[in-house]
Amino acid sequence: MPRLVILGRQGSGKGTQSARLAERYGVPHISTGDILRVAVAEQTDLGQRAMAIMDAGDLVPDEIMLGIIEERLAAPDAARGFVLDGFPRTDAQAQGLAALLGTEGLDLAVDLAVPDEVVIERMLARGRADDTEEAIQRRLDLYEEQTAPLLEWYSNQDLLVTVDGVGTPDEVFGRLAEVIDA
Ligand code: AP5
Ligand code: MG
Repeated sequence: MPRLVILGRQGSGKGTQSARLAERYGVPHISTGDILRVAVAEQTDLGQRAMAIMDAGDLVPDEIMLGIIEERLAAPDAARGFVLDGFPRTDAQAQGLAALLGTEGLDLAVDLAVPDEVVIERMLARGRADDTEEAIQRRLDLYEEQTAPLLEWYSNQDLLVTVDGVGTPDEVFGRLAEVIDA
């Protein structure tokens, strides 16, 4: 059962493809963005802290995110594998995840590669609360600054594969399944 991390710019299709991959491999789809949006909708303490941060396109603090992931990965359904979507996003999160997973580690980190122009178009068409021009730009800037360096980190561990994320969702899914099954 695969233990996967899906990396890629905001709007690259991580959520779309992770849901399909989770179904194909029978493992949970763990999206930190979805977990946070549920907390916001339910107005929990976490949600109240996260809402303004998310609307601005900023990152929720690492220690909060690591706590969420530690708890989620400890659930029985994650013992057989998982698709992580939107986590890790910073160096501290990647180090924390590696410490949590221990020797079993990850099978693969996938970079879903889609250029800026295309992701901006996709997000503006979607219209989520944080899909304003300002918040999209902030998220993309933070991606370059904090998340893109993780590609090299995973590549150095021989865990990274890059998959072209431009095309129809079916085309992209076919490419992903091919590299994961290889
Ligand atoms: P998160 O929910 O992770 O949002 P994001 O990173 O901005 O990414 P998106 O969900 O927008 O994009 P996606 O790659 O999932 O693409 P999707 O499949 O939706 O995070 C939101 C916020 O939460 C963050 O800004 C931050 O504040 C906080 N947060 C979350 N995780 C955190 C962490 N680890 N640390 C700190 N803070 C964290 O596709 C986008 C659109 O394109 C959709 O409309 C879709 O239908 C469409 N689409 C998908 N594939 C295709 C295709 N092939 N062709 C055409 N359209 C497509
Ligand atoms: Mg998403």
